[in-house]
Amino acid sequence: MDVEKIRKDFPILAKKYHGKTLAYLDNAASSQKPVQVVDAVRDFYLNSYANVHRGSYDLSVEATEAYEKARKRVGKHFGAKEKETIFTRNTTESLNALAYSLSDSIGEDDAIVVTEMDHHSNLVPWQQLCLRKKAELHFVEVDGNGELADFDFPSNTALFAFPHVSNVLGTVNDVEKWAKKAKKEGALVVLDGAAGAPHIPLNVHRSGVDFYAFSGHKMLGPMGSGVLWGKQELLEKMPPFLYGGSMITNVEKGKSEWADLPHKFEAGTPDAGGAIGLAKAIDYLESVGFSRILEHEHALVKKTLDLFAEIGLDVYGSPSKRTGIVSFNIRNAHAHDIGMVLGGDAIAVRAGVHCSQVLVKKLGVPATVRASYYLYNTESEVERLADSVRKAKEVFG
Ligand code: ALA
Repeated sequence: MDVEKIRKDFPILAKKYHGKTLAYLDNAASSQKPVQVVDAVRDFYLNSYANVHRGSYDLSVEATEAYEKARKRVGKHFGAKEKETIFTRNTTESLNALAYSLSDSIGEDDAIVVTEMDHHSNLVPWQQLCLRKKAELHFVEVDGNGELADFDFPSNTALFAFPHVSNVLGTVNDVEKWAKKAKKEGALVVLDGAAGAPHIPLNVHRSGVDFYAFSGHKMLGPMGSGVLWGKQELLEKMPPFLYGGSMITNVEKGKSEWADLPHKFEAGTPDAGGAIGLAKAIDYLESVGFSRILEHEHALVKKTLDLFAEIGLDVYGSPSKRTGIVSFNIRNAHAHDIGMVLGGDAIAVRAGVHCSQVLVKKLGVPATVRASYYLYNTESEVERLADSVRKAKEVFG
C-alpha cells in the first residue's frame, strides 16, 4: 500500500499546527476526506443538483438517478438490495429510528440484551425502550482482554444489539457467532457497524444479523451520510419512524398510505450529496483494498504497543482481533492533560469517555486517551505519538 501516494489525496494532512505537521490519529471519531469524495459532492451540487424523487424535468431526473445510483453502490458493498438500503444521517439516527420503529414489538415480558462495549447510540435507545416498556435489559460483560465474555441469552430475549467493533478498544467481535447465539432464543439481532464498517466489510446476509447501521463520515464519506439496513420482510412490517414528503403514496383527511421500501423510511428531502459522497468513499476504500488497510493498521498498532511498553503506560485491552485503535493512560495523569500535550505537538487524538461510559467505567478510570489509525497514517506519526507521550509522562507521571 503506497501510503505517501494516498496522503496526497488528503490535502488536510499537510496542515501545520505549532510549526509541526498534523498527525491525525482520531479516525475513530471521524476520518478525513480524499479529494475524490469532495469532488463527487461538488460535482453533484454544481452540475446535477435539484430535489430528488419530485420533479419530472431533466435536472431532477438526473439528480434522482445520481442518488439512486449511490444507493445501489453503497448497498452492493455490504451485500444489500436497494430496497433494504435506507439512507440516514448517521449510525445514531439509524439506531434510534430502529428502536422507535420496533417499540410496539417489545413488551414487559421481553428482554433486550446489549453489551458493556456498546457506544451510547446502541445502548441508550434500547435502555430507554426497556424503561418505557418495563422490559428487562441485560448486558454481555467485557472480560480482561477487552472481549465479550460468554453469555447465556435468557429465553425471553427479544432483541440483541451489539457492536461489530469497540470504538474504545478496537475489539472485533465475531458477528456470525453472536448472531447465531442470540437467534437460538428467537431474538432480532442489531449490529452497530459505526466502528467496523470503515475497516471490515460485512456481508449482511451471511452475517446472520437482522439490522445493520453505519456512518459515512468515519469511512472517508461526508458528515451527515449514514445507512440503516434491515431484512426486507422485517422492514415491510415495521411502521415508518418519520412522516412527511417522499414516504407516502396516498393521503386523505383521515388516513395515509406509505410508499414502498426504502422510501417509506426516508421522509423529507434526503442528503443526496452525502449519499453520493459515501458511494465515492466506498469506491476509494475498495480500490485501496480493505484487507490491506487493516493490515497496515495492525502494523501501526504493533509499533505503538512496542513503544508504549518501553515507556510504561496503561494500555486497555488485548483483544485477539482488533482494528487500529489503542486506548491508554499515563498512570496518575488525566487523559485530558495528556491530550493537551499531544495537541501541542500537533497530534490529534481523542481523550475522554468516547461515548462509551459503561465500558470506560468498567476499565476503572475516568477517561482514556485513544489513538485511532486509518489508511493514511504512518510509522513516523506513531513515533511522534510515542515521543510526545514520553514527554507528557515526564511532566505528569
Ligand atoms: N463515536 C465516535 C468516537 O468513538 C464519535 O469517537
